[in-house]
Amino acid sequence: MKVLVLGSGGREHCLAWKISKSDLVKEVFVAPGNPGIAGIANCIDIEIGKKNFDKLSDFAEKQSIDLTIVGPEAPLVDGIVDHFNQKNLKIFGPEREAAMIEGSKVFTKDLTQKYDIPSANGKIFVKGEYDRAKKYLNDLPDSEYPKVLKADGLAAGKGVLIAKTRSEAILSLDTILVENKFGAAGDKVIIEDFLEGFEASILCLCDGENILPMDLAQDYKRIYDGDKGKNTGGMGSYSPVPMIGKKILEKILENIIYPTYNALKREGIRYKGILYGGLMISNGNPYLLEYNCRFGDPETQAVLPRLEDDIVPLLIDCANGNLKASKLNWSKNRSVCVITASKGYPESSSKGDIISGLDKVDTEKTLLFHAGTKKVDGNFATNGGRVLGLVTTATSFKKARSILYSEIKKIKFNGIQYRKDIALRVEEEKWAI
Ligand code: AMP
Ligand code: GLY
Repeated sequence: MKVLVLGSGGREHCLAWKISKSDLVKEVFVAPGNPGIAGIANCIDIEIGKKNFDKLSDFAEKQSIDLTIVGPEAPLVDGIVDHFNQKNLKIFGPEREAAMIEGSKVFTKDLTQKYDIPSANGKIFVKGEYDRAKKYLNDLPDSEYPKVLKADGLAAGKGVLIAKTRSEAILSLDTILVENKFGAAGDKVIIEDFLEGFEASILCLCDGENILPMDLAQDYKRIYDGDKGKNTGGMGSYSPVPMIGKKILEKILENIIYPTYNALKREGIRYKGILYGGLMISNGNPYLLEYNCRFGDPETQAVLPRLEDDIVPLLIDCANGNLKASKLNWSKNRSVCVITASKGYPESSSKGDIISGLDKVDTEKTLLFHAGTKKVDGNFATNGGRVLGLVTTATSFKKARSILYSEIKKIKFNGIQYRKDIALRVEEEKWAI
């Protein structure tokens, strides 16, 4: 088989790595990929924006690609799956209408409210309703703060603003509805309750009819240790999540994931691909924070190394609407993923800083996934915010952390930043239930 992966980050490197281990696969192509991915797959110089959908489908046709897998959300929301389907090309991911679950937070909030799926209580305001939204914030008692303001559309993970006070909430409202910081993505805003607890991500394989959850992961969004500083695209992850025992998992599935899947069906939407639930567990009860319509980054890098099954038949079966597996096999090992980011991230990012020490990393022990890298005069160099992800899988989180943090020291580039506390909270697994 020939498989094509679309995207250029650590998630796509990990997908290409896992796919290339399949006995069914002869060749893996990645568009556009990155220099790290080029070490294990054929990188194709085609960007994956909407204007290139024809180029991508032409490539898939000419190369007789058997399956295409879409990494990031934007092409899904722009309808790449519909485009490939029209040309009878097999592709893994939701169609445009189904990708709305990530493409419009208002769509998802309406869905959760209509079908009683536990999520933060929220109110929706459209652009013309600025005065009404401001009055709503002004009338709320102080005790109702913090509030969370969310731009409706895709905003590269930056469209969620947490306002501790009324004045911060009004500034956030202005940012979204008046200053148009998120462009058309901010034509509608959700103002919702702030939920406390711990977060987890669940990625589920879906074939339009059936749904098969993967083991959970936790993502670290803030730039600094102790969850301080700005939100990023994700600074690390670990899997599984020992705080989530059988009881909470059952609530996640029975109260959130399955009802959502059924709600989508009732709305006439057949969801195929990955349904990614971003969850907040508050006092033992799960709430939905958001859905994504694709594999998470960097959750994928922690989850897939623990999957003992060949991923390719699972992806094909989902794309065919015929998922046969009813159970996935997971390694009992624990995995930890730490992202190294470039100088200035997340406000800015550096490009062109030479990376050294990659050849010293013991790849028997630690996987190395490239994200923002490029080649300069034969050397790897930084090329964006999140540069590399290292993943270690071991019999305990403690061991995985110890190996990973000794390997990561070998990597050097100007201004390198990484968190030292990824998976620290589960090191003793004292919360396991
Ligand atoms: P989202 O893109 O909706 O997942 O939001 C990004 C991040 O904002 C989440 O991972 C949470 O850390 C935070 N967040 C979103 N919604 C809420 C909420 N209702 N209460 C508390 N934190 C939230
Ligand atoms: N890890 C968050 C995301 O993939 O959106």
